[in-house]
Amino acid sequence: MNKQDETNSNLPLGVGGHIEALNEEFEGKSPEEILTYFLNEFKGKIALSSSLSIEDQVLTDLIVRIDKDARIFTLDTGRLFPETYSLIDKTNNKYDIAIEVFFPESSKVEKMVKTNGINLFYDSIEKRKQCCQVRKLEPLKRAFQGLEVWICGLRQEQSITRMGAKTVEWDEANGIIKINPLVHWLEKEVWEYIKTNKVPYNELHDKGFPSIGCQPCTRAVKLGEDLRAGRWWWEDPEHKECGLHNRPTKMTP
Ligand code: ADX
Ligand code: SF4
Repeated sequence: MNKQDETNSNLPLGVGGHIEALNEEFEGKSPEEILTYFLNEFKGKIALSSSLSIEDQVLTDLIVRIDKDARIFTLDTGRLFPETYSLIDKTNNKYDIAIEVFFPESSKVEKMVKTNGINLFYDSIEKRKQCCQVRKLEPLKRAFQGLEVWICGLRQEQSITRMGAKTVEWDEANGIIKINPLVHWLEKEVWEYIKTNKVPYNELHDKGFPSIGCQPCTRAVKLGEDLRAGRWWWEDPEHKECGLHNRPTKMTP
Protein backbone atom coordinates (compact mmCIF):
# COMPACT_ATOMS: atom_id res chain seq x y z
CA MET A 1 0.00 0.00 0.00
CA ASN A 2 2.98 2.31 -0.36
CA LYS A 3 2.64 2.96 -4.07
CA GLN A 4 0.95 6.20 -5.05
CA ASP A 5 -2.51 6.43 -6.57
CA GLU A 6 -2.35 7.80 -10.11
CA THR A 7 -5.18 10.28 -9.58
CA ASN A 8 -4.24 11.43 -6.07
CA SER A 9 -0.48 11.71 -6.02
CA ASN A 10 -0.27 12.41 -2.29
CA LEU A 11 -2.50 9.52 -1.31
CA PRO A 12 -1.31 5.92 -1.05
CA LEU A 13 -2.73 3.46 -3.53
CA GLY A 14 -6.23 2.49 -2.48
CA VAL A 15 -7.23 5.59 -0.54
CA GLY A 16 -8.07 8.00 -3.36
CA GLY A 17 -10.65 5.94 -5.21
CA HIS A 18 -10.79 2.71 -3.30
CA ILE A 19 -12.20 3.22 0.14
CA GLU A 20 -14.08 -0.04 -0.30
CA ALA A 21 -10.84 -1.92 -0.91
CA LEU A 22 -9.40 -0.47 2.28
CA ASN A 23 -12.46 -1.63 4.20
CA GLU A 24 -11.92 -5.13 2.87
CA GLU A 25 -8.26 -4.95 3.78
CA PHE A 26 -9.01 -3.85 7.36
CA GLU A 27 -11.81 -6.40 7.83
CA GLY A 28 -11.10 -8.23 11.08
CA LYS A 29 -8.07 -6.02 11.88
CA SER A 30 -7.66 -4.55 15.35
CA PRO A 31 -8.00 -0.82 16.09
CA GLU A 32 -4.20 -0.77 16.79
CA GLU A 33 -3.48 -2.13 13.32
CA ILE A 34 -5.84 0.33 11.66
CA LEU A 35 -4.45 3.28 13.60
CA THR A 36 -0.84 2.25 13.04
CA TYR A 37 -1.37 2.16 9.29
CA PHE A 38 -3.09 5.54 9.05
CA LEU A 39 -0.86 7.33 11.59
CA ASN A 40 2.22 6.23 9.64
CA GLU A 41 0.87 6.85 6.14
CA PHE A 42 -0.63 10.25 6.95
CA LYS A 43 1.83 11.59 9.54
CA GLY A 44 1.12 15.28 10.16
CA LYS A 45 -2.14 15.12 8.19
CA ILE A 46 -4.27 13.08 10.58
CA ALA A 47 -6.03 13.90 13.84
CA LEU A 48 -8.47 12.46 16.35
CA SER A 49 -11.46 14.64 17.13
CA SER A 50 -12.24 13.77 20.71
CA SER A 51 -15.44 14.47 22.58
CA LEU A 52 -13.77 12.80 25.59
CA SER A 53 -16.27 9.94 25.25
CA ILE A 54 -15.24 6.44 26.34
CA GLU A 55 -14.54 5.59 22.68
CA ASP A 56 -12.36 8.67 22.19
CA GLN A 57 -10.51 7.97 25.42
CA VAL A 58 -9.69 4.44 24.15
CA LEU A 59 -8.52 5.93 20.86
CA THR A 60 -6.40 8.52 22.70
CA ASP A 61 -4.74 5.76 24.74
CA LEU A 62 -4.01 3.75 21.57
CA ILE A 63 -2.80 6.75 19.58
CA VAL A 64 -0.41 7.94 22.29
CA ARG A 65 1.21 4.48 22.33
CA ILE A 66 1.72 4.61 18.54
CA ASP A 67 2.65 8.27 17.99
CA LYS A 68 2.80 10.62 20.94
CA ASP A 69 2.92 13.65 18.63
CA ALA A 70 -0.26 12.80 16.72
CA ARG A 71 -2.85 15.59 16.85
CA ILE A 72 -5.86 15.26 19.13
CA PHE A 73 -8.39 18.07 19.27
CA THR A 74 -11.73 18.76 20.91
CA LEU A 75 -14.51 21.18 20.07
CA ASP A 76 -15.45 23.22 23.12
CA THR A 77 -18.98 24.38 22.38
CA GLY A 78 -19.03 26.50 25.52
CA ARG A 79 -21.87 24.34 26.85
CA LEU A 80 -19.97 21.27 28.04
CA PHE A 81 -20.31 19.69 31.48
CA PRO A 82 -17.75 20.69 34.17
CA GLU A 83 -16.87 16.96 34.37
CA THR A 84 -15.85 17.03 30.70
CA TYR A 85 -13.52 19.99 31.26
CA SER A 86 -11.94 18.13 34.21
CA LEU A 87 -11.41 15.12 31.97
CA ILE A 88 -9.50 17.22 29.42
CA ASP A 89 -7.06 18.14 32.18
CA LYS A 90 -6.85 14.59 33.58
CA THR A 91 -6.17 13.19 30.11
CA ASN A 92 -3.49 15.76 29.31
CA ASN A 93 -1.80 15.04 32.63
CA LYS A 94 -1.95 11.25 32.36
CA TYR A 95 -0.51 11.09 28.83
CA ASP A 96 1.63 14.23 28.95
CA ILE A 97 -0.15 15.62 25.90
CA ALA A 98 -1.98 18.86 25.09
CA ILE A 99 -5.39 18.26 23.51
CA GLU A 100 -6.04 21.21 21.16
CA VAL A 101 -9.24 23.07 21.95
CA PHE A 102 -11.27 24.77 19.23
CA PHE A 103 -13.87 27.35 20.19
CA PRO A 104 -16.80 28.72 18.19
CA GLU A 105 -16.46 32.18 16.66
CA SER A 106 -17.69 34.58 19.32
CA SER A 107 -19.40 36.96 16.86
CA LYS A 108 -21.44 34.08 15.40
CA VAL A 109 -22.50 32.86 18.85
CA GLU A 110 -23.44 36.39 19.89
CA LYS A 111 -25.54 36.94 16.78
CA MET A 112 -27.31 33.58 17.15
CA VAL A 113 -28.10 34.15 20.83
CA LYS A 114 -29.30 37.70 20.19
CA THR A 115 -31.69 36.49 17.48
CA ASN A 116 -32.88 33.17 18.90
CA GLY A 117 -32.07 33.13 22.63
CA ILE A 118 -29.46 31.32 24.70
CA ASN A 119 -31.36 27.99 24.82
CA LEU A 120 -32.68 28.05 21.24
CA PHE A 121 -32.09 24.30 20.78
CA TYR A 122 -35.29 23.40 22.64
CA ASP A 123 -37.47 25.44 20.23
CA SER A 124 -37.13 23.38 17.03
CA ILE A 125 -34.87 20.94 15.19
CA GLU A 126 -33.82 23.78 12.86
CA LYS A 127 -32.68 25.93 15.78
CA ARG A 128 -30.96 22.98 17.44
CA LYS A 129 -29.07 22.33 14.20
CA GLN A 130 -28.21 26.02 13.93
CA CYS A 131 -26.64 25.88 17.39
CA CYS A 132 -24.66 22.72 16.47
CA GLN A 133 -23.58 24.43 13.25
CA VAL A 134 -22.23 27.49 15.05
CA ARG A 135 -20.80 25.75 18.09
CA LYS A 136 -19.48 22.51 16.49
CA LEU A 137 -19.43 22.41 12.70
CA GLU A 138 -17.79 25.75 11.99
CA PRO A 139 -14.96 25.12 14.49
CA LEU A 140 -14.59 21.58 13.08
CA LYS A 141 -14.00 23.05 9.61
CA ARG A 142 -11.18 25.17 11.03
CA ALA A 143 -9.74 22.14 12.85
CA PHE A 144 -9.65 20.25 9.54
CA GLN A 145 -7.17 22.65 7.95
CA GLY A 146 -4.19 20.67 6.67
CA LEU A 147 -5.82 17.32 7.49
CA GLU A 148 -6.45 14.39 5.16
CA VAL A 149 -7.69 11.88 7.72
CA TRP A 150 -10.17 12.37 10.54
CA ILE A 151 -10.20 9.76 13.33
CA CYS A 152 -13.57 9.32 15.07
CA GLY A 153 -15.05 7.10 17.74
CA LEU A 154 -18.26 6.04 15.98
CA ARG A 155 -19.58 2.53 16.65
CA GLN A 156 -22.34 0.78 14.72
CA GLU A 157 -24.03 -0.29 17.94
CA GLN A 158 -24.50 3.30 19.11
CA SER A 159 -27.67 4.15 17.21
CA ILE A 160 -29.96 3.60 14.27
CA THR A 161 -28.14 6.45 12.47
CA ARG A 162 -24.77 4.69 12.85
CA MET A 163 -25.65 1.11 11.91
CA GLY A 164 -24.14 1.61 8.45
CA ALA A 165 -20.90 3.20 9.66
CA LYS A 166 -17.70 1.71 8.20
CA THR A 167 -14.07 1.52 9.30
CA VAL A 168 -13.04 3.80 6.43
CA GLU A 169 -15.37 6.34 4.81
CA TRP A 170 -15.13 9.28 2.49
CA ASP A 171 -16.72 12.33 4.12
CA GLU A 172 -18.12 14.12 1.12
CA ALA A 173 -19.16 17.27 3.00
CA ASN A 174 -15.67 17.92 4.31
CA GLY A 175 -13.58 16.27 1.58
CA ILE A 176 -11.72 14.16 4.11
CA ILE A 177 -11.12 10.47 4.81
CA LYS A 178 -12.87 9.49 8.00
CA ILE A 179 -11.83 6.43 9.97
CA ASN A 180 -13.77 4.74 12.76
CA PRO A 181 -11.32 2.18 14.23
CA LEU A 182 -13.84 1.05 16.90
CA VAL A 183 -16.77 0.75 14.50
CA HIS A 184 -17.39 -2.95 15.30
CA TRP A 185 -16.71 -2.75 19.04
CA LEU A 186 -19.50 -3.29 21.55
CA GLU A 187 -19.91 -1.03 24.55
CA LYS A 188 -18.65 -3.78 26.87
CA GLU A 189 -15.42 -4.09 24.89
CA VAL A 190 -14.86 -0.36 25.22
CA TRP A 191 -15.34 -0.57 28.97
CA GLU A 192 -13.06 -3.61 29.24
CA TYR A 193 -10.28 -1.64 27.53
CA ILE A 194 -10.88 1.37 29.79
CA LYS A 195 -10.73 -0.71 32.98
CA THR A 196 -7.80 -2.93 31.91
CA ASN A 197 -5.69 0.02 30.81
CA LYS A 198 -6.82 2.42 33.54
CA VAL A 199 -7.91 4.99 30.99
CA PRO A 200 -9.43 8.13 32.58
CA TYR A 201 -13.15 8.57 31.84
CA ASN A 202 -15.93 11.04 32.48
CA GLU A 203 -17.34 10.76 36.03
CA LEU A 204 -20.84 11.21 34.60
CA HIS A 205 -20.71 7.67 33.19
CA ASP A 206 -21.03 6.40 36.76
CA LYS A 207 -24.13 8.57 37.21
CA GLY A 208 -26.30 7.17 34.40
CA PHE A 209 -24.91 9.03 31.39
CA PRO A 210 -23.79 6.48 28.73
CA SER A 211 -23.33 9.17 26.05
CA ILE A 212 -22.26 12.71 26.86
CA GLY A 213 -22.44 15.83 24.73
CA CYS A 214 -23.38 19.39 25.65
CA GLN A 215 -24.93 19.85 29.10
CA PRO A 216 -28.31 21.30 28.00
CA CYS A 217 -28.74 18.54 25.36
CA THR A 218 -27.74 15.52 27.48
CA ARG A 219 -29.50 13.83 30.36
CA ALA A 220 -29.12 10.57 32.28
CA VAL A 221 -30.92 7.50 30.90
CA LYS A 222 -33.16 5.08 32.76
CA LEU A 223 -32.32 1.39 33.11
CA GLY A 224 -32.91 -0.42 29.81
CA GLU A 225 -33.03 2.78 27.75
CA ASP A 226 -31.03 3.16 24.57
CA LEU A 227 -27.36 4.28 24.78
CA ARG A 228 -28.12 7.65 23.20
CA ALA A 229 -31.62 8.09 24.65
CA GLY A 230 -30.32 10.93 26.82
CA ARG A 231 -28.96 12.93 23.87
CA TRP A 232 -31.46 15.49 22.41
CA TRP A 233 -34.10 13.38 24.20
CA TRP A 234 -36.94 15.51 22.87
CA GLU A 235 -36.18 14.56 19.23
CA ASP A 236 -36.88 11.39 17.18
CA PRO A 237 -34.00 8.86 17.05
CA GLU A 238 -33.64 9.44 13.27
CA HIS A 239 -32.78 13.10 13.83
CA LYS A 240 -30.27 12.61 16.59
CA GLU A 241 -27.13 13.70 14.79
CA CYS A 242 -25.62 17.13 15.17
CA GLY A 243 -24.38 17.28 11.59
CA LEU A 244 -20.85 16.09 12.42
CA HIS A 245 -21.77 12.59 11.23
CA ASN A 246 -24.41 13.00 8.59
CA ARG A 247 -25.22 9.76 6.79
CA PRO A 248 -25.09 8.30 4.28
CA THR A 249 -21.47 9.14 3.50
CA LYS A 250 -20.27 8.02 0.07
CA MET A 251 -17.94 5.07 -0.12
CA THR A 252 -15.76 6.68 -2.77
CA PRO A 253 -14.71 10.26 -3.52
S1 ADX B 1 -22.44 13.56 18.44
O1 ADX B 1 -22.48 13.91 17.01
O2 ADX B 1 -23.60 12.78 18.87
O3 ADX B 1 -22.14 14.68 19.31
P1 ADX B 1 -20.79 11.60 19.68
O4 ADX B 1 -20.80 12.31 20.98
O5 ADX B 1 -21.52 10.30 19.58
O6 ADX B 1 -21.25 12.58 18.49
O7 ADX B 1 -19.32 11.40 19.17
C1 ADX B 1 -19.02 10.71 17.99
C2 ADX B 1 -17.69 11.20 17.49
O8 ADX B 1 -17.82 12.55 17.03
C3 ADX B 1 -16.63 11.25 18.54
O9 ADX B 1 -15.98 10.02 18.67
C4 ADX B 1 -15.73 12.35 18.05
O10 ADX B 1 -14.84 11.84 17.08
C5 ADX B 1 -16.69 13.32 17.37
N1 ADX B 1 -17.11 14.38 18.28
C6 ADX B 1 -18.34 14.55 18.83
N2 ADX B 1 -18.37 15.66 19.61
C7 ADX B 1 -17.12 16.19 19.56
C8 ADX B 1 -16.50 17.32 20.17
N3 ADX B 1 -17.16 18.13 20.99
N4 ADX B 1 -15.20 17.55 19.90
C9 ADX B 1 -14.52 16.75 19.06
N5 ADX B 1 -15.05 15.67 18.47
C10 ADX B 1 -16.33 15.39 18.71
FE1 SF4 C 1 -25.88 23.58 20.89
FE2 SF4 C 1 -26.95 21.42 22.06
FE3 SF4 C 1 -25.70 21.24 19.66
FE4 SF4 C 1 -24.32 21.67 21.91
S1 SF4 C 1 -25.50 19.80 21.37
S2 SF4 C 1 -24.02 22.69 20.01
S3 SF4 C 1 -25.74 23.06 23.05
S4 SF4 C 1 -27.60 22.32 20.17
